[in-house]
Amino acid sequence: MAKLAELSKLFHAISARDWRVAQELALEVAEAEATRGNHAAATRLRGALKPNGTRNGAPNNGPTVEAAGAVGILTELPPLRGLGSVSLRQRQRAELQTLLKEWRLRDRLQQHGVRRRSKILFYGPPGCGKSMAARAIAHEASLPAYVVQLDAVMGAFLGQTALRVRELFRFAEAAPSVLLLDEVDALGRERGNAMDVGELDRVVISVMQHLEHSEPAGFLIATSNLPSHLDPALVRRFDLKLEFPAPTKAERTRFGTEIARAHGVTLTQRLKAEFDGARAFADIERLVSDEKRRKLLNGG
Ligand SMILES: Nc1ncnc2c1ncn2[C@@H]1O[C@H](COP(=O)(O)OP(=O)(O)O)[C@@H](O)[C@H]1O
Ligand SMILES: [Mg+2]
Repeated sequence: MAKLAELSKLFHAISARDWRVAQELALEVAEAEATRGNHAAATRLRGALKPNGTRNGAPNNGPTVEAAGAVGILTELPPLRGLGSVSLRQRQRAELQTLLKEWRLRDRLQQHGVRRRSKILFYGPPGCGKSMAARAIAHEASLPAYVVQLDAVMGAFLGQTALRVRELFRFAEAAPSVLLLDEVDALGRERGNAMDVGELDRVVISVMQHLEHSEPAGFLIATSNLPSHLDPALVRRFDLKLEFPAPTKAERTRFGTEIARAHGVTLTQRLKAEFDGARAFADIERLVSDEKRRKLLNGG
């Protein structure tokens, strides 16, 4: 039997909901049994810890966030509408539809030894639909979506960063999902970053190595507002790089008109002029909701 001290540490980790530490401690308990010569017990304990292990005879639904040891790194995003709700140019929409077709016909591609594209970079100015489209892809492919907490990955103690990046990619390979590496610009080097350069380099190198060799079970979608600040070697490792451009004048007017109608807001000349000054879809949405709020406050 495991020592009281070992079990006590494990229980503490569980009550702190620190699944990563709990998993490490549980593994230590199994290793300790092996050291004591209880190999059958060790094997059984290790087996019980496997992310793919069935629970209470329940069907195997793939690893959970907890089992992947990824808690603190991944946050599940609530479902969003499909691609139809995202304003896209024809080329963008066609690219995304092709990606989804590859996903649907993945078995056929695999049978012929053809890779499905799964590592995607969306780039362009803020507020133009990159994060929204990533979540819409999850909706269209019926996959859960998670946002990767890059700060948690990078804020890890020295030496733990590589481990967390590995956990992240292990999860991506095992659990069909959309993993959103949102605003990877944090990994950019040219920005005056408070983090010490050595540690930043380690994160980038670690992510690059995994990107090169990993085949996500679903999609890994990174977004960037400043692609020119990203390491070109990192950018090169994505299967598809898709631009989300700022809306043109015509696109701003069309989008603003639709949103105003959806919110029951009258399209005044002033509002139209404000749409003209907007730079992103998100700004137009804000203008319409500001207008709606003003109207309600004025009793309208
Ligand atoms: N192309 C778009 N079509 C429809 N709505 C959009 C679009 N771009 C932005 N929005 C609106 O603005 C919000 C923020 O956009 P987001 O996707 O987070 O921008 P980005 O990730 O490019 O910075 C979205 O949740 C959505 O409400
Ligand atoms: Mg975003």
